[in-house]
Amino acid sequence: MTIQEIAQAIVAPGKGILAADESTPTIGKRLAGIGVENTEDNRRAYRELLFTTDNMSEYISGVIMYDETLRQNGSDGSKLVEVLEKQGVFSGIKVDMGVEPLQDGSEEKITNGLDGLEERLKEYYELGARFAKWRAVITIGENMPTDECISKNAKRLAKYAKLVQDAGMVPIVEPEILMDGDHDIDRCYEVTTNTLHSVFEELYAHDVELDGMLLKPNMVIPGKGSGKASSEIIAQKTIDCFHKSVPPKTAGIVFLSGGQSEQEACENLDAMNRLDIEKPWELSFSYGRALQSSVLQAWLGKSENINAAKEAFLKRSKLTSAARSGTYNSDME
Ligand code: 13P
Repeated sequence: MTIQEIAQAIVAPGKGILAADESTPTIGKRLAGIGVENTEDNRRAYRELLFTTDNMSEYISGVIMYDETLRQNGSDGSKLVEVLEKQGVFSGIKVDMGVEPLQDGSEEKITNGLDGLEERLKEYYELGARFAKWRAVITIGENMPTDECISKNAKRLAKYAKLVQDAGMVPIVEPEILMDGDHDIDRCYEVTTNTLHSVFEELYAHDVELDGMLLKPNMVIPGKGSGKASSEIIAQKTIDCFHKSVPPKTAGIVFLSGGQSEQEACENLDAMNRLDIEKPWELSFSYGRALQSSVLQAWLGKSENINAAKEAFLKRSKLTSAARSGTYNSDME
């Protein structure tokens, strides 16, 4: 398949991505939240539970994994990548190596992972990955973000995206503006617009094919410390921001959930898909927490809860898929 075909299949009608690529420390925090130890076996058991949920492929077209999971076998000895492939679900791989301070003592972050990336991508392709992810983090605060933070992160995102396309895979380009802070929705709008301008400028400069990539942005939303906005306002401001900054040729937009609740992440995505204005891109999801919070609560690390946890995952997938189609309703919760 060409990268264009893969990108289109991932954002096919009603479908989106499960982000299950938490690094070992991050999944450790999620497991600690339900009193489960962060061992390789527990991580495998949890990811296997998700990937073997019957009928998830009606709603989920791709799963992003961490390096360990891409190499892992399920309890019956078959590779987790093959378990997904049998369901017709594409395997994705997080290839950035996490963030570090932009400068010593700086609160701003720069994402690492370009060293040796070309070689790693070849191996990931061999292991079955067909798409990849790199996350840049932008913080809003006093005198932040700086132009330097935005442009350095944008350059690395573009270099990564080009290498991924050259390796025959679809890059997910993720510049995440964090929800942390007490900024209002208009400040988020301004920073998201500036960041996306810078990212697409670099993507053009690096010859990235926009119809063979997916953008994974934040929604335009007020900071956590600044109260809530209605879904309609979030939808209008987000789409307005994209009209100014995201070229129509981009194969698809797959939102992150960023700390929104499961229900909020559905309501906001649904409101965007319902908006009766020109939207040249598919508007879908690549949710981590908003597809998994209730699954972890249903599971609690106990084998007798596996079926309940699978049911919770199927329900979240179904409702998020409805939001992706603009047919979600909070009565479905
Ligand atoms: P959340 O949906 O929990 O923000 O995770 C998505 C993701 O992949 C962040 O990089």
